[in-house]
Amino acid sequence: KNEKLWGGRFEQSLESWVEEFGASITFDQKMAEFDIKGSIAHAKMLGQTGIIDLVEAETLVKGLEELLAEYHEGKLVFDVTNEDIHMNIEVLLTQKVGAVAGKLHTARSRNDQVATDMHLYLKYHLGDIIEKLSHLRHVLVTLAEKHIETIMPGYTHLQHAQPISLGHYFMAYYSMFTRDSERFEFNISHTDISPLGAAALAGTTFPIDRELTAELMGFEAIYANSLDAVSDRDFIVEFLSNASLLMMHMSRICEELVSWCSNEFQYITLSDTFSTGSSIMPQKKNPDMAELIRGKTGRVYGNLFSLLTVMKSLPLAYNKDLQEDKEGMFDTVETISVSIDILAGMLESMTVNEERMLHSTEKDFSNATELADYLATKGIPFRKAHEIVGSLVLECTRVGNFLQDVPLSRYKELSDLIEDDIYDVLQSKTAVERRNSYGGTGFMQVLQQIDQAKTQLTA
Ligand code: ARG
Repeated sequence: KNEKLWGGRFEQSLESWVEEFGASITFDQKMAEFDIKGSIAHAKMLGQTGIIDLVEAETLVKGLEELLAEYHEGKLVFDVTNEDIHMNIEVLLTQKVGAVAGKLHTARSRNDQVATDMHLYLKYHLGDIIEKLSHLRHVLVTLAEKHIETIMPGYTHLQHAQPISLGHYFMAYYSMFTRDSERFEFNISHTDISPLGAAALAGTTFPIDRELTAELMGFEAIYANSLDAVSDRDFIVEFLSNASLLMMHMSRICEELVSWCSNEFQYITLSDTFSTGSSIMPQKKNPDMAELIRGKTGRVYGNLFSLLTVMKSLPLAYNKDLQEDKEGMFDTVETISVSIDILAGMLESMTVNEERMLHSTEKDFSNATELADYLATKGIPFRKAHEIVGSLVLECTRVGNFLQDVPLSRYKELSDLIEDDIYDVLQSKTAVERRNSYGGTGFMQVLQQIDQAKTQLTA
């Protein structure tokens, strides 16, 4: 005899270690709340359509509501012999209301049930993640506003390229996180669909009302095809892919934070509350949290590739392989949620060494384009201007000075079009201020981006 809910056609039981291999309760209990809510909707529908007696339906709903309350109080105890969250809840309900609990699974399969739980779980967390991202974006806009006129070196190839506004830098990340947020919004539209009623794979002979259960669970839409409903995990792949992009962005800014607080840069100081020390070197203050976000990017990419690989070549409809969709999704939700908060906190609490940033744009050649542009404005073809400035830079590196140190007499030898207004043009602050093309780093442009962002954030 086999005591499982599905034990009827079996003569023997699973050995316990085999049972453990197949069980998912250790992790799918994270969906307990959604599983119970889905069952409440299903039970109400069974009663209202007359598939089961209305009084029996009420008994089921009442029992499930009690289980939900007990779950919130941390009182539910799950058992690995009941395999997964769905059967655990059914067994607990049976203990509570008796044999009538056996009517709950009428016109339903664990296949549409598990898909329903996953949709409810992810939909809930997508909303939460979008809110967290909105806070991070807000932090970036606030920082950008504070640092419109903070001048720093802009890099290409990690070499000083042209000076930029630190505010412009923050707004670049604002734009990336805004796109991330939009992708999660779009993800909701593919998640906010009810699979319940697809049953095992083919629908059911019972006169169920899928619209009603969808409405009771707060779903926008219902799956049009029962085979698709129970085997679709696109919405999770989409989520993992969106999460990977988000982590990629966070990892890029974290990499910069790690560099910027090094002795070589000294552009920022992270607050003590987001830094750690060394067990051997007393002087150390390490940017562990930024490094960890950078590192956790790897596991999120891994979760994406894991599910893509699970899904590849899976025949329709449900296969037990699909049980492997969960841990990566839970892990990703938890990883990105805390990473967003940590990044926002780190940015909010760090100090910017404005003088150091400005200073490093003054002992370099990042104003060389200014000089070339200056000559080009006076009518010298840009290529020729580029060549003149290039040789002057070479000359300076030999002498050991910079363009702003070159005397006017030397400039006049190069071109009599150069006047002494050149020294203002060569100032990094002037260089930034004048880059006023749309989307450029000019102060007015940065201000415009900030204004737009504020409108977006309050919309
Ligand atoms: N624990 C299972 C999962 O996570 C639930 C669905 C089981 N369905 C089945 N036909 N074995 O996928």
